[in-house]
Amino acid sequence: MRLFVAVALPPEAAGELDAVVAPLRPSWPELRWTGVDAWHLTLAFLGEVDEVVTSRLAHRMHNAARRHTPLSLYLAGAGAFPGPRRARVLWTGIQGDVRGLGRLADSVAAGARKAGAPPADSGRGYQPHLTLARCRAPADVSPLVDRLGSFAGTPWVASEIYLIHSRLGAHPRYEVLGSWPMRTPGRGSGQRGGRSGGASGPGGGERGSGSWSAGKRSNGNRGAEDQTCAP
Ligand code: 2AM
Repeated sequence: MRLFVAVALPPEAAGELDAVVAPLRPSWPELRWTGVDAWHLTLAFLGEVDEVVTSRLAHRMHNAARRHTPLSLYLAGAGAFPGPRRARVLWTGIQGDVRGLGRLADSVAAGARKAGAPPADSGRGYQPHLTLARCRAPADVSPLVDRLGSFAGTPWVASEIYLIHSRLGAHPRYEVLGSWPMRTPGRGSGQRGGRSGGASGPGGGERGSGSWSAGKRSNGNRGAEDQTCAP
């Protein structure tokens, strides 16, 4: 299974961003735009993981999440990988507690390694971003980066991590395999939490969580993802 671990964003944050991005899409049909309901902040991309290792991930992700308290984040600015003039990926940035987000990503990567699923690109360093579009061929997206550069969304609190199964295809589909809450500030890390197995959804429990929308849990997300255009 092709897996990754991510933080979700609430519908309000996605809606704010979409209000800015939607008018730009029609003028740039050559880009493969990601769908609003597929937007997420990747913490670690694990790549192909077998069933045995996947079953070990739940315990490790639980531990990773419990090492951290919820993070106040907001979307802001824009950029491109590897750069705006020969872009493969157009993204919007993450602001707020990005150091905490980086530490969370480190814990997730360490947990994944212990489970036997080392992140595919761990040597590259964590660059928090939300992918807005991928380019079929390197493209000059400088005008888009300029237009989106002044965007700044409303902060939200991210309090859960999600293990996601990504099914590639014309329209990649993302299925939540499990979610685990971060530690409530002021409480110990002993309490077990989290949900796995895909039967239950996000949102219960901790306050202020970015929630992975119901549609995102199983079906039809226009992730516009493929191997060739991945960063
Ligand atoms: P992204 O965050 O830039 O969109 C599922 O593929 C998620 O894992 C996507 O969010 C994707 O990138 C991220 N990812 C990171 N490295 C990847 C890789 N080498 N191949 C595919 N996806 C990758």
